[in-house]
Amino acid sequence: RKPIKVALLGCGTVGTEVVRLLTDQAPDLTARIGAPVELAGIAVRRPNKHREVPAELLTTDAEALVASDDVDVVVEVIGGIEPARSLLLTALRSGKSVVTANKALLAEHSADLFEASDASGADLYFEAAVAGAIPLLRPLRESLAGDRITRVMGIVNGTTNFILSGMDSTGASYAETLEEATRLGYAEADPTADVDGFDAASKAAILASLAFHSRVTAADVHREGIAAVSAADIAAAKGLGRIVKLLAICERVSVDAGDGSGASEGISVRVHPAMIPRSHPLASVHGAFNAVFVEADAAGEMMFYGQGAGGAPTASAVLGDLVAVARNRVHSGRGPRESAYAGLPVRPMGQT
Ligand code: NDP
Ligand code: HSE
Repeated sequence: RKPIKVALLGCGTVGTEVVRLLTDQAPDLTARIGAPVELAGIAVRRPNKHREVPAELLTTDAEALVASDDVDVVVEVIGGIEPARSLLLTALRSGKSVVTANKALLAEHSADLFEASDASGADLYFEAAVAGAIPLLRPLRESLAGDRITRVMGIVNGTTNFILSGMDSTGASYAETLEEATRLGYAEADPTADVDGFDAASKAAILASLAFHSRVTAADVHREGIAAVSAADIAAAKGLGRIVKLLAICERVSVDAGDGSGASEGISVRVHPAMIPRSHPLASVHGAFNAVFVEADAAGEMMFYGQGAGGAPTASAVLGDLVAVARNRVHSGRGPRESAYAGLPVRPMGQT
């Protein structure tokens, strides 16, 4: 079988682990996919920094790598909006499958990406974008596609959970725990994305879009981060038998358009710190772990739990997607389509 050739964009915390897993598991991946998977190139900013990967694979010209006829699949772990957006649109428009961990991009530009994917028939998978290693998006996109999801709620940011857990259990300072989360590779390149709730808001937008078959962007999400949570707040919560957690909550609600037509169904999506009872299952989610509850009409309640950040856990989700898109190429399959989704309005905060 002809190898599936992969362009890897980015080789930082996540990308390095993607290369390691691809290398270590090569024979098993070949057996699972039905063809070998080979790296065609790795795009980075500073090639001299990357002694851990073969020098001949490194390039600073991501555009040329993506455009190469030799490439079947593009795996993007650069982060941010540009150049990731343009690179992935080019890949999808030319029929190349895309795997990305980039929640910031998906939460702003999923409509363009899904449209390009549907137009060319190229797969777009992004399991690693929400809740790291936890299989969550494929269950929402595929396994629960025949049900009616009513609520998705949980802890979706590892860095802030690491900080809040540390402040609660050891009394460590906010600054110390943030530094440690960055050292461990949990935090975003700019950690204010984590502490101010932008990262969780992007993830909430993705979850709401998939769960409710709607278009929700990060701008639709009511967002409060943890920067204002003090040691005194944590102690006060403790005194009340509670613990502070940053929650993402996506639910079906009734929405009043304000035009006299009355209330209709809509969605509410928000991210904010909450004091939850210490007996609640989310209270025992510590460190960079994430946990998400899903409620659906027929399935009832489900809980997804696991490592939500870090190089290896995230690379596990990326590799799972890579196997799926590579199999689809080998066996002429196709992943889920999204661009035809209907839209439910998002309820503005403050409206009841
Ligand atoms: P890093 O900052 O560690 O790595 C980013 C990589 O992208 C670096 O190798 C960098 O190159 C490269 N890069 C940056 N700009 C360019 C460019 N213009 N062209 C080519 N390469 C470029 O990020 P992470 O690995 O932590 O995160 C990557 C993505 O994964 C992000 O979207 C993040 O949100 C997402 N993610 C991260 C998780 C985590 O726990 N870290 C978990 C889940 C998702 P160089 O090394 O040369 O500077
Ligand atoms: N910075 C993110 C977090 C990485 O802490 O959850 C995982 O998406």
